[in-house]
Amino acid sequence: MNLQGKTIVLVVTGGIAVYKAVELLRLLTKAGATVQVIMTRAATEFVTPLTFQTLSGNPVHTELFNLIQEQEIGHISLADRADALVIAPATANCIGKLANGIADDLLTTTVMATTAPVLLAPAMNVNMYQHPAYRQNEQKLRQMGCQVVDPEQGELACGWQGTGRLARPEVIFEAVCRLCAPQDLVGQTILVTAGPTREELDPIRFISNHSSGRMGYALARAAQRRGARVILVSGPVALDRPTGIELVPVASACQMQQAVMERVEACTVVIKAAAVADYRPVQRSDQKIKKEGERLVVELERNPDILAGLGRLTRRPLLVGFAAETGDLQGHAAAKLAAKNLDMIVANDVTQEGAGFNVATNIARLLFRDGRVEELALMSKEELADLILDRVRGLLG
Ligand code: PMT
Repeated sequence: MNLQGKTIVLVVTGGIAVYKAVELLRLLTKAGATVQVIMTRAATEFVTPLTFQTLSGNPVHTELFNLIQEQEIGHISLADRADALVIAPATANCIGKLANGIADDLLTTTVMATTAPVLLAPAMNVNMYQHPAYRQNEQKLRQMGCQVVDPEQGELACGWQGTGRLARPEVIFEAVCRLCAPQDLVGQTILVTAGPTREELDPIRFISNHSSGRMGYALARAAQRRGARVILVSGPVALDRPTGIELVPVASACQMQQAVMERVEACTVVIKAAAVADYRPVQRSDQKIKKEGERLVVELERNPDILAGLGRLTRRPLLVGFAAETGDLQGHAAAKLAAKNLDMIVANDVTQEGAGFNVATNIARLLFRDGRVEELALMSKEELADLILDRVRGLLG
């Protein structure tokens, strides 16, 4: 997600997980955010402020009353400037103070003075995490409106096993993006399909295509950030499982069709970014096909067209298709839009550099049911996902 123009105040409290806050800072600045870092004295024992200063490009704030910083920015100004305030790692001590309204240092005064959303990413020993005092404090902060990224399970720095490990930086980053995104898809249930399908020839071989799933996963993540309930029906891909999204893994086109049809009734929007195989082998051999003769002829039969099936439903959700083309982009895409009874189609010429399969960017042309056409420039799949969702929002009315 693009965080250009957003100011994030990253508060780092003392714990071994401080090094992960460095990675979080990198993700935030890479997304274009201006990041102001506050460190507690304990945090500076683990990683020096210089690291955060270098990576954020801004001075690190450590003291409540620093004459120079107070003149330039001050703790109230930090609180005012924030679009979101993230505490990562958040110790039991800091959560205890915040839950009880104590404001005796830069961290606590800034959190109390801000009207921006506050995100806590706790990290501590498993017994501290389960202690009734801690549980009560966390609950209190949730009731006050703070968001919490739960810690993960695993081996803790103190040697114990259990819950208490700071969530991964990517997970915290995703939660920050959600806080900064417009919540204009709340109440929508959006089903996204992503990735390729695999049509098996035998237990070892299959027919597939180059789809990486990046476009579909970007759409699913963007829709979730904007408040939608998201169901992601995904072919086999090598991408991280997105958090907070219902993931339905499938392999073949027939499995994808079943997964989509079972869920479509609950959906207000379906976006089909998946590259579905049009044909499958008539016969799947139970045994490995042996090398015999100079030629092997495989007979294929048509797969069901999932999107066309959705277009024929009497009560159908808003339908967005994709068209991967290698020539006559507009003609083929317009024909698919009409034949499949879609509201919108995202046409991409996969022969263009930076577009289509297995790259981080795309170049798309949007075609609408009413004949409108929108030509888009090269952009990241994340940016395109948000733009598609803007148009979906418009079509939903
Ligand atoms: O996954 P990435 O590496 O990020 O690449 C993204 C992408 C190139 C896969 C994506 O941008 C894209 O173009 N997806 C659609 C590819 C495709 O299958 O296009 P198509 O023209 O064959 O199909 C048209 C539409 O019908 C698609 O929405 C497709 O999901 C759907 N379809 C196709 C065949 C079929 N049997 N059932 C379907 O539902």
